[in-house]
Amino acid sequence: MPSDSDPSSSAPPFQGRTIALVGLMGAGKSTVGRRLADKLGRNFYDSDHEIEKAAGLSISDIFSLHGEADFRRGEKQVIRRLLELPPHVLATGGGAYLDPETRQVLRERAITVWLNADLETLWRRVQKRDTRPLLQRADAKDHLAHLVLEREPFYSQADLVVHSKDGPHTHTVNAILKALQTWKSE
Ligand code: S3P
Repeated sequence: MPSDSDPSSSAPPFQGRTIALVGLMGAGKSTVGRRLADKLGRNFYDSDHEIEKAAGLSISDIFSLHGEADFRRGEKQVIRRLLELPPHVLATGGGAYLDPETRQVLRERAITVWLNADLETLWRRVQKRDTRPLLQRADAKDHLAHLVLEREPFYSQADLVVHSKDGPHTHTVNAILKALQTWKSE
């Protein structure tokens, strides 16, 4: 029976691993992740949604009632727990990959894909929802620009980078599938 490590196996190299999407708010992690999961016949999880379920509160309420530090603790625990599940597609919250322990556990158990989008694209998309506490401020676009600069050095540590452009989501899904074919375990 061929295994994932057997070069004669026809299974794609990423078969045994969770695919985790990282990147900024508005990069399309949830929308694209759900479609990617459908295409691969895998389950889809969204760390923000799992935190909300566990807390029984929205992200905005967690931030306002308990503070960002508490949210980050919950986020770290939730991602660690999700990574124990069989291979799936995981959309991580935009700040999750900045945590060194989360980066480490993702490195060990997942293939990380940075969904990279330019500031104007991110800004256009995030304006559609007012559910992101970090952008509830008068200078939201400037702050988003600041987050782009501050976070790029972290996101660029992901295993793969795929550009998230406007247009049909299937284009981004196919770009991820193509990038995954190039992935090799260390
Ligand atoms: C955050 C991104 C959000 C959510 C929270 C904080 C961030 O997730 O986790 O509002 O720090 O960038 P999305 O990236 O899914 O919007």
